[in-house]
Order: sequence, then structure tokens, then C-alpha cells
Amino acid sequence: MELKKKAYIETYGCQMNISDSEIVASILETQNYESTTDIKAADLILLNTCSIRDNAEQRVRNRLNELHALKRKHPGLVIGLLGCMAERLKDKLLEEERHIDLIVGPDGYRQLPQLLEQVESGQKAINVLLSADETYADINPVRTGGSGVTAFISIMRGCENFCAYCVVPYTRGKERSRNPQTIIKEARELFDQGFREVTLLGQNVNSYHGEENGLPLDFPALLEQVASVNPLLRIRFATSHPKDISDTLLEVIAAHENICKSIHLPIQSGSTRMLGMMKRSYTRDWYMDRIAAIRRIIPGCAVTTDIIAGFCSETEEDHQETISAMRQVGYDYAYMFKYSERPNTIAARKYPDDVPEEVKSRRLDEIISLQQELSLKSNKLEIGKEYEVLAEGISKRSDQQLFGRTSQNKVVVFPRESYNPGDYVNVKILSCTAATLRGELKK
Ligand code: SAH
Ligand code: SF4
Ligand code: F3S
Repeated sequence: MELKKKAYIETYGCQMNISDSEIVASILETQNYESTTDIKAADLILLNTCSIRDNAEQRVRNRLNELHALKRKHPGLVIGLLGCMAERLKDKLLEEERHIDLIVGPDGYRQLPQLLEQVESGQKAINVLLSADETYADINPVRTGGSGVTAFISIMRGCENFCAYCVVPYTRGKERSRNPQTIIKEARELFDQGFREVTLLGQNVNSYHGEENGLPLDFPALLEQVASVNPLLRIRFATSHPKDISDTLLEVIAAHENICKSIHLPIQSGSTRMLGMMKRSYTRDWYMDRIAAIRRIIPGCAVTTDIIAGFCSETEEDHQETISAMRQVGYDYAYMFKYSERPNTIAARKYPDDVPEEVKSRRLDEIISLQQELSLKSNKLEIGKEYEVLAEGISKRSDQQLFGRTSQNKVVVFPRESYNPGDYVNVKILSCTAATLRGELKK
């Protein structure tokens, strides 16, 4: 038998890239490759990259320099770049980074076997074609590295919202939804393998439009079907766009115990003027109406968000509106970024990137410290309450402790006793920091 070659995949960027890396691992395993976590043993190193902000690309560039040194020591080593940076920079990357052998965009992974053959015959290989219908629906992802408890299921690909600042529509192409039967089948198989939580992934999951028996199937209907796979399977989803988070969707979440009570709803800015320039297609009032609907229909639901500081022409007043929106919603958690101009996006073409770096940094710092305050406040309110926690793994600090999450997606550390990852455990919250809750077992 021929000895298998070893592939090492390193993933940057969002959950969708993590999910794609599992698809890539699966495609490679049908060939003469097996996955390794030991980079030194690898015959093939793939970086699955992100272009969302300049610093995401810089990290990959630095990593490539390190890999260059590795390749000088092992001349047979093949280095490939996958994902959004591959798609954005295309063959320019082959000129700039001469030790790269292979470039494959997010819709080209099925071609990997042929492209690798081409590399073996001594040529460079590239496929950056975007597709209107590729969803990798039939490929069974290899669940590498995970806990065995939680898994991602990609339900749609691409994005056509063209928010002014965002590179994703250019790197991921047209929006397309995956066939619902294959999604349900994957959820069932994961449950049977012992997984207890799935996160349905897409750039804008509430615009999912599948088809079942010739009839349209929207996201709330899909969510109900996944929820009915088994009451012990928890469902999460990301990301929702505020423009179409409907009451129907909120009612479905409220009606099913196993659909987690946590919604990630990126606001980006609290200023309606900024939202208009960002082409987000909602106003602050619209967003706050959706928050009110969440509070009304799903009491106790956690709300998290994404915020960009220092977008083009942002004034101090605009910034203060972001601050006041954060207070008004009282986010449980937020991902917060400085605006980073991405070449060829609408903002890059139309607006000067005119907020000085130090102003961006100061505004981001204010946003981060307010969020620290809000997260701590939200966690303090949990003290004394009881939650059903899905145990995900052994705590890093002590093997006598487990960590897991509440339905609201808050991390809880608690005594292990005879419990194991994958168990549902009732925990009473005793104390907290801004990031973690600590609790005792409640039997
Ligand atoms: N599809 C999701 C988000 C995808 S990107 C949505 O629409 O909400 C994740 C986050 O990165 C965005 O929500 C935004 O806050 C941030 N982001 C995107 N482009 C950015 C840029 N050019 N500079 C800074 N942050 C950016
Ligand atoms: Fe980017 Fe907007 Fe699409 Fe999100 S919805 S991926 S921010 S273009
Ligand atoms: Fe980055 Fe691409 Fe995801 S740009 S955030 S890896 S879709």
C-alpha cells in the first residue's frame, strides 16, 4: 500500500472558514492524504485565509514568511493558499509570494485533487473561479480538532448585500442556499455520532431560501426541521442581518426549547447616517424595533453584535450614537473593530478613509471598555440563577472542572464530578467575570 501523504490545514477568519477547512480535509482524504496536526510532518500545508481587515491579511503574510523558511529545509513541501485572500489577490499572490505552489478560492475546493496533480508535475496551480451554485452539499466534512460536542453546518454560501466596507461579496460570490435535505441529514448524522449542538452558518442566514418538493423553504421552516431532529440537539445560527430578522423567525426560536436563546445581530453603527453610508439598509430605529421584538417574543434572550469604529466621515456625534445604542441594547457580548479600508469595495471607491488612526483607536477603546462594563453587568445578573449547561470540555485550569455554555451562549465553569463533555448539567451560577460564569452542580 502506498504511504499516505500528510496535509496540515491552518484556518484564519470566520466560522465559515473553519467549516470550509473541514470540507477541504474531507476532499483530501478521498485522495492520497491524511490530516495531521504536526506541521513538521506535513507534505502539504494549506492556509485557509481571511481578507476582512488588513491585519487579517498581514497575519497570513507573516505566516508565509515562516513557511518559506520551512520550505527551504524541506524542498518537497507544497504550500497552498485557500479562502478569501486567495480569491481577492488571485495570481498576483503567485508573483508576490514565490514559494506558494497552489491558490484555490472558496468555490474551487472540488478541483483540489487535479490541482495537486498539477503541482506534483512541477507547475503552479490556481483556481479562483466563483460559482453560482456550489454548496459542497454532498461532501461530508471531517470534524477535525473539535470537541466532538459542537459542530458547524454550512447552510448557505456567498453574500450579495454589498455593505460598503465589506470584501465578502467579492471573495465569496453570489448568495446560494444548500439543499435542506442534506442539511437535515448532516444534523442527524452528527447527533448519532454524539454531537449535541450544531451551528447553522451563513453570512446572512435569514435570507436562506431552500426548496423542498418543489416548494420554497425559508429559514424559520428550516430551523424548525433541524430542531425536530432530536430535542437533545441544540441549534444555534449565525449571522442574522437586522434587515430581515422577522417576527416569524423569533416565534420559531421561542417555541423550541432546543433552539438557543441567543441572537447575533450586528449593528455596525448606532448612527443612521453611518448606516446609510455603509449601505446596511436599516436605520437605528428599525434596528431598535427588532431588539424590542426580540425582548417581547423571546424574554431572556441574549443579544450580541459587531461594531465598526471610525468608518468614513464618522463624527464624534456618530460615535456617541454608537455608544448610546450599545447602552440602549445592553449587549451581552460584542466583536469590535476599527474600520479597515478594503481595496475595490464601494467605500474604497466612493469615500475617503478620513478618520485619523488615533481617533479610530480612541473610539474603539471607548467602545471596548463600555462593552466590558455591559458584559460584566449582564453576567452579574446571572448570579443566583440556574441554567442547563451543555458540557463541552475539560477546563484548561483544572481537570476537576468542566466548561460549557448556557442556551444564552455564556461560558460556565463548574465541578466535573462524574459528568463528561456532551452531558447536559444543571448549574447554579455563583460568581462571574466579564467573560465567564462559575457555578455549582444542582441535582
Ligand atoms: N455577514 C455578517 C458579518 C461578516 S464579517 C454580517 O453582515 O453581519 C464580520 C464583521 O466584520 C462584520 O460584521 C463587521 O463588523 C466587520 N467588518 C467587515 N468589514 C470590515 C472592515 N472593512 N473593517 C472593519 N471591520 C469590518
Ligand atoms: Fe459583508 Fe454585509 Fe455581506 Fe455581512 S451582509 S458579509 S457585512 S456584505
Ligand atoms: Fe474572512 Fe472570508 Fe470569513 S473575508 S470573515 S474568511 S468570509
